[in-house]
Amino acid sequence: MSASNELEKAATAYALDAVRLDKQGQKGRAITLYQKAIESLLQLVQLYPEYGLNKVYVQRAIAYQERIKSLQGTVSASEMNQAANNDEVGGGAATRDGNGSVGGNGKPNEELVMTEKPKVNWAEVVGLDTAKKAVKEAIVYPVQRPDLFPLGWPRGILLFGPPGCGKTLLAAAVATEIDANFYSIDAASIMSKWLGEAEQNVAKLFGSARKSAVEGKPAIVFVDELDSLMGNHSNEVGGEIRVKNQFLKEMDGIVDKGKNLHVYVIGATNKPWDLDWAFIRRFQKRILVPLADHGTRLSMLKLYSSNLQIDADVDLIELARLSEGFSGSDIRDVCQSAQLSLIGEFFETGKAMDKEAKPRSLTMADFRQILEERKPSVSLDMLSQYNRWFEAFKAL
Ligand SMILES: Nc1ncnc2c1ncn2[C@@H]1O[C@H](COP(=O)(O)OP(=O)(O)O)[C@@H](O)[C@H]1O
Ligand SMILES: [Mg+2]
Repeated sequence: MSASNELEKAATAYALDAVRLDKQGQKGRAITLYQKAIESLLQLVQLYPEYGLNKVYVQRAIAYQERIKSLQGTVSASEMNQAANNDEVGGGAATRDGNGSVGGNGKPNEELVMTEKPKVNWAEVVGLDTAKKAVKEAIVYPVQRPDLFPLGWPRGILLFGPPGCGKTLLAAAVATEIDANFYSIDAASIMSKWLGEAEQNVAKLFGSARKSAVEGKPAIVFVDELDSLMGNHSNEVGGEIRVKNQFLKEMDGIVDKGKNLHVYVIGATNKPWDLDWAFIRRFQKRILVPLADHGTRLSMLKLYSSNLQIDADVDLIELARLSEGFSGSDIRDVCQSAQLSLIGEFFETGKAMDKEAKPRSLTMADFRQILEERKPSVSLDMLSQYNRWFEAFKAL
């Protein structure tokens, strides 16, 4: 067995025991085991700094640390001693105060899920015409006229493509358009919850989504960073595989039982090639959210500079040319940085102290300078990877 395998197993075993003891109220022993779980997780991260789930492991280690702190606040010195001296202590003295809830203040679902409706309209999603059309056909029209879809319609929609190109934005715009409850989750928040509860959280989440749909309000479950939750992992630290299976089950559930319910799962990923087939095939629509082209960059520059005061010499067409390879997120950053440094300069000269004074407007030189300092965050190599994956798995 490899070292990573052993460490993962050890971390899982420690953590499961810790949670069990914690639930029984055996705080002292739970603390010791949480500590061991943390050590194994951190060793794992150090040994394999490139591993995809490291972020999740670190978060989980932090969560255990926090749990230890809160247990230490309530644990007595004699319990600590007892735990240290005797590993065989049954559910004795420590259970009496009856604090059995793992995670203490845990109402897991509420932390995981944001049901507040994001207010994004189509106009704020620049470009992406093909992707917009595809999500309208898959979600918006079926919600508006289900009677026109006798053969049913897809419930799983996968948005994939380079980072910062509008996947999240697009999902939010769909939710606004159909006035849906939006359940937004990401791998890190699901997996960093207490062990053994992650899959229940998934079940609860889908339960709420179905309830919403039954009550007449469409539901969108948006899973960001799908790859880190649903990737091809042969190992797990207590939960990934169970969570994944639960997810698959829920996705099948909304297709079978919920034939006429409007519950949709939108998954977003920058690394579609990390997904396994069980997952890919449940997303009947697979949509590339591509990097902006020249025209789209120009529209973005117009959008993001519309709230700024720009000089007549600013040539947005030229800026669109200079920002080849930039994502929407890069372009927003460029505009923001230009404005930030302008305002910085305004404050440094002391003029800002005069409440009547206004900063100068942004010039072409300001933008050029920012652009020179920045590199596009998406490489050509990455782009061709997306296109290859799209050719292999596309489903528009
Ligand atoms: N197509 C787009 N149109 C307008 N703004 C965009 C676009 N793509 C990205 N942005 C800007 O970048 C930010 C991050 O985009 P996001 O949707 O989170 O990208 P992704 O989910 O693909 O990583 C957005 O909030 C928005 O400000
Ligand atoms: Mg995003």
